[in-house]
Amino acid sequence: MSTLIELKSVARHYTGSSGTVRAVDNVSLSFKEGDFSVLAGSSGSGKTTLLNLIGGIDRPDIGEVLISGISTQGKSESELADLRLNKIGFIFQSYNLLPVLTVYENVQFILQIRGIADRLHNELILPVLKRLGLIDLKERFPSQLSGGQQQRVAIARAIVLKPSIVLADEPTANLDSDTADSLLDLMQSLNHEDRVTFLFSSHDPEVIRRARTVIRLRDGKVIEIENR
Ligand SMILES: Nc1ncnc2c1ncn2[C@@H]1O[C@H](COP(=O)(O)OP(=O)(O)OP(=O)(O)O)[C@@H](O)[C@H]1O
Ligand SMILES: [Mg+2]
Repeated sequence: MSTLIELKSVARHYTGSSGTVRAVDNVSLSFKEGDFSVLAGSSGSGKTTLLNLIGGIDRPDIGEVLISGISTQGKSESELADLRLNKIGFIFQSYNLLPVLTVYENVQFILQIRGIADRLHNELILPVLKRLGLIDLKERFPSQLSGGQQQRVAIARAIVLKPSIVLADEPTANLDSDTADSLLDLMQSLNHEDRVTFLFSSHDPEVIRRARTVIRLRDGKVIEIENR
């Protein structure tokens, strides 16, 4: 299986009035096609900081992050944005949907940023909305959806361009346990049947139970990697 993302001795520090926080401390990891992995750890252990480094939203102070073999180091903001748009899908805890756009338009927005011709939009978007059970909701606005439905739109948006990997920061945090379960069923079946690669951050035991690789973090360090 090909390596999608590689971290080599990566560190990220924050310096504030109370001193320096080592949010990510000497982390080396790699992620490959087909993975279904979770970064697990208590609040403040560095999960979000690490996901942002992995996704090229942020760059390390020390070490190197390679996305499809391309280092994020020395890349301009627009080069990084291109790399992200082509390779990485993001799902955020708070969904980050645009409230003035419908379900369809929220997904379409990504295609517009990429400059994909309008005539191709339906054939890209409709199958994804069908796959995620959103087709009958496509004209609704986010405020007219449940939390679980909004999170499904966020997944649709993350996968519509068939990224190499989808990064999801605490995807179940705002959902009740039944909704979280069905969302995880969906992501597992996307992983099995559509070969979508996922990396989560979570402290939700159910997410951790279902992951095939559990990377445990404490104080910014990887303390254990469990492969199942
Ligand atoms: N922008 C920032 N400025 C200063 N310190 C930060 C910043 N972002 C994160 N930190 C610090 O870095 C450490 C790791 O934070 P991070 O948000 O990555 O943790 P987390 O595991 O995602 O936590 P949570 O489960 O609460 O989301 C924490 O000590 C946090 O206070
Ligand atoms: Mg976090």
